[in-house]
Amino acid sequence: MIRDLKVCPVWMAYIFDNPIRKYLHDPKELFGKYIEVGMSVLDMGCGLGHFSLGLADMVGLEGKVYAVDLQQDMLDQVKKRALRKGFNKVILTHKCSSNNIDLDHSFEFINCFWMIHETPDPLLLFHRLSELMQPGGHLFLADPKVHVAKRDFEKIVASALRQDLILYARPQVKLSYAAVFKKPLQDNLEMETRYGFIQ
Ligand SMILES: C[S@@+](CC[C@H](N)C(=O)[O-])C[C@H]1O[C@@H](n2cnc3c(N)ncnc32)[C@H](O)[C@@H]1O
Repeated sequence: MIRDLKVCPVWMAYIFDNPIRKYLHDPKELFGKYIEVGMSVLDMGCGLGHFSLGLADMVGLEGKVYAVDLQQDMLDQVKKRALRKGFNKVILTHKCSSNNIDLDHSFEFINCFWMIHETPDPLLLFHRLSELMQPGGHLFLADPKVHVAKRDFEKIVASALRQDLILYARPQVKLSYAAVFKKPLQDNLEMETRYGFIQ
């Protein structure tokens, strides 16, 4: 499933990353049960940083949010917003390339919101993301209904399940298809993968 796709330009990201986004996609409401103060989390394809900022508020000053994107212009805006909100020590921006995240760190939570549909090879991305996840950690995936058909989203979910991840939940997310995956704890690996779904 390798696709030739274009990424969302900065000007377009301002259309949905605006002051009313929090009423549609409140980070606390969506991620609250997966995040604790002090966690290290990754916002993959962070765009202008709506979720990076929300996650920074949730992990607090002892935590870290790696805001990662292909586009330096997006990351520059994230840096400015982080500084304005006092999160400049919590949010670390990092520019990746489409086939290499190039991070040497492990995460307890990964957010992939409205970005996977822009990646040419979801299987490769999930492979790398699962390597970056700590056992017991969660990966939150959401793709916009306006760009992705349900059957294509299910193919993306299937790509994630080809890694050592299990399907953990199917949250309702406005305007989106969504799924949450968990990386099993080593002790539970056999049981969790055998039964496939733990809520
Ligand atoms: C539609 S925007 C969504 C931004 C943000 N996640 C949000 O929900 O507001 C998609 C973002 O993903 C980034 N992106 C696309 N493919 C990527 C990849 N392979 N690695 C990192 N970022 C990527 C784009 O540059 C863009 O900033």
